[in-house]
Amino acid sequence: MTKRIFLAGATGAIGRRLLPLLLNAGYEVTGMTRSQAKAIALRDRTIRMVVADVFDADAVKRALDAARPDVVIHQLTDLSALASPATAIPRNARIRSEGTRNLVNAALMVGARRIIAQSIAWAYAGGTLPHAESDPLDMHAPEPRSITVRGVSALENAVLHSPPLLGTVLRYGQLYGPGTGADAPHGAAPLHVDAAAYAALLAVQHEAYGIYNIAGRDADVVTEKARRELEWHEDMRLPADVMDISV
Ligand SMILES: NC(=O)c1ccc[n+]([C@@H]2O[C@H](COP(=O)([O-])OP(=O)(O)OC[C@H]3O[C@@H](n4cnc5c(N)ncnc54)[C@H](OP(=O)(O)O)[C@@H]3O)[C@@H](O)[C@H]2O)c1
Repeated sequence: MTKRIFLAGATGAIGRRLLPLLLNAGYEVTGMTRSQAKAIALRDRTIRMVVADVFDADAVKRALDAARPDVVIHQLTDLSALASPATAIPRNARIRSEGTRNLVNAALMVGARRIIAQSIAWAYAGGTLPHAESDPLDMHAPEPRSITVRGVSALENAVLHSPPLLGTVLRYGQLYGPGTGADAPHGAAPLHVDAAAYAALLAVQHEAYGIYNIAGRDADVVTEKARRELEWHEDMRLPADVMDISV
């Protein structure tokens, strides 16, 4: 049976690489955006799109009700205002807490089986490096980091503890590559955007649950679990002829 997938964040840096990968793998994908114009442009390329703001709980429920997905993938961030961290940090934390809650509630309502969500690999509390997935989050960090970590914790708790939904959290490193604004690896846990997209595809295919660090080798995090259970590695890249869905 072809699995139906609902991709929230289809137009984002990771979503734009993940959507063609999912289609190539044979999944029936519905993407979500707030933008009517982007939805029309993508529908012109035969991609199913719905228009909804994740903070509008009823609109999210209607979108999932129409798509009836087996799997919900959450690749939402609100980082377009990155140039101004004072506004970007609370906005992104809100999408992780309220936005994730709305998606989870809608997924439960329509009987989706699984949810796979984007998190980050740099929210760990201090301690011995590299960090494994079982290490604690930095819940006692000072502001503004505490805002980010609380958002991450809310997202991960909602995804992992909303039975009967089976949850997967992908703790991504710092992105580089097409559409990310960074051409080269940077930060303590660099990650090419294509390898990030492949991790989500592999999580769907491997029926993998729980938390996975996703970053290059020599990062501040241990990634053996993803390499072993998802058969993921950091050199994965989209084929050159893959559909470009930039809008
Ligand atoms: N781990 C990392 O290092 C990491 C992770 C993610 C992003 N980033 C970086 O952050 C920058 C911006 O990321 P981005 O290009 O992905 O853009 P973004 O503005 O963060 O948006 C990401 C996705 O979330 C959707 N979205 C945002 N708010 C929404 C809402 N209220 N309701 C529904 N959908 C919503 C956007 O859809 P629409 O705008 O179409 O509605 C888009 O599909 C890039 O440089 C990227 O590389 C880094």
